[in-house]
Amino acid sequence: MSTKRYIVGNWKMNHSLKELDAFWSQLKSTDFTKFESNAWIAPQGIHLSKCLEMAGSGIKLGAQNCHHKLSGAFTGEASPSALKDMGAEFVIIGHSERRAIFNESHEELNLKVKTALELGLKVIFCVGETLQERNEGRVFAVNQNQIHQGLKGIDPSKLGSLLVAYEPVWAIGTGVTASPEQAEEVHHFLRELLGKFLGRNSIPLLYGGSVKPANIKDLLSKPNIDGGLVGGASLKASDFLKLVEAAG
Ligand code: PGA
Repeated sequence: MSTKRYIVGNWKMNHSLKELDAFWSQLKSTDFTKFESNAWIAPQGIHLSKCLEMAGSGIKLGAQNCHHKLSGAFTGEASPSALKDMGAEFVIIGHSERRAIFNESHEELNLKVKTALELGLKVIFCVGETLQERNEGRVFAVNQNQIHQGLKGIDPSKLGSLLVAYEPVWAIGTGVTASPEQAEEVHHFLRELLGKFLGRNSIPLLYGGSVKPANIKDLLSKPNIDGGLVGGASLKASDFLKLVEAAG
């Protein structure tokens, strides 16, 4: 089990330049290196360099998605090597919005994970079931399949750069959080699965889905929950700071 906790903000397609200014100016005097936990933020790719200029010390910045090729005729896509050049240290891959809205397949996600890891980016690979799949009793089968398909064939020497986020689709942006017990049940399952499938049971496991300052402590009290991947509540500087403080 890993010891350092993670609070990762996923800003999705939010924030104007003015809002970015407001966010970072509120955190200007906060030295994030004093926290035990890792504070990471994934702004829109187009805002990455602006955020790098404004962010104080101790916050890592990353991307919400990337293409699986480094360059080429892929109009509208973001190259993982360009993101890295820009200063991205990690990339989120397989978020349920990418899977559902942009139809990203298991095969495509697997290629993205491999390319990003090969480049030296850290990867947060997301899995999670829909409400219908949960109601049909398929929670473990669905999450296992996403892990097997998305993470097959990874170079074992890169596993130190891999994190997995369990994000039940029914809890994302809905205000309905999985209870700490529901989340822990799946995290425990994923811990064992990753141990068997990748030979490593220390991969950090983040929970995502309506995480906020009011529920982060209870979630982090569970043995297999190593952090949070946070959408809505990471957009406000004061809430982001509260989450990082709660993570220790
Ligand atoms: P939420 O989003 O915290 O707004 O539910 C989480 C995510 O999609 O990563």
